[in-house]
Amino acid sequence: MNPVDIINNYYKPGSLSHDILMVHSEAVARKAAKIAEGLDDPAIDRDFIYDAAKLHDIGIFYTDAPGIGCFGNYPYMCHGYLGRNLLEELGMEKHALVAERHVGAGLTKKEIIEKDLPLPARDMLPLTIEEIIICVADKFFSKNPDMKKEFSLSDVMAKIETYGRESMVRFESWLKILGDVHE
Ligand SMILES: [Fe+2]
Repeated sequence: MNPVDIINNYYKPGSLSHDILMVHSEAVARKAAKIAEGLDDPAIDRDFIYDAAKLHDIGIFYTDAPGIGCFGNYPYMCHGYLGRNLLEELGMEKHALVAERHVGAGLTKKEIIEKDLPLPARDMLPLTIEEIIICVADKFFSKNPDMKKEFSLSDVMAKIETYGRESMVRFESWLKILGDVHE
């Protein structure tokens, strides 16, 4: 299924949430494609990366984020696993895992329990190279009015630092795998 058709099924074209999702997802998909290109590894599934990046935030409409046109009941951070549920219903298991695992620098079951986060207590960590690439690419873009602007790597690192030490260690280990990820 075409990712844009899926987005259009859940977000009304012309609405604020649709506009934001389309611009953000395209920015992340392009960044992810660029990171993948730099790796020169034929085993990396580039078509999958593009489609999964377009769909990674499909769950935002379930959340309470009026600033981006989303009027659901769930806390914003739930958009990952809710997106996973939605994509699984469509039979897109691999894309679903990208959605669940892209939040922050991934989350361990331990972090979810210790921080008392409103999430199912299970590991939500990017594991495959495709999942890692999309999670990292996502960190370079926000959904605020400046959403086409790519953050610098130091901005990204500063944000990851606020998620805690474990996130920082994980993120740094991914940068070693991915190499040169900034512009
Ligand atoms: Fe995102």
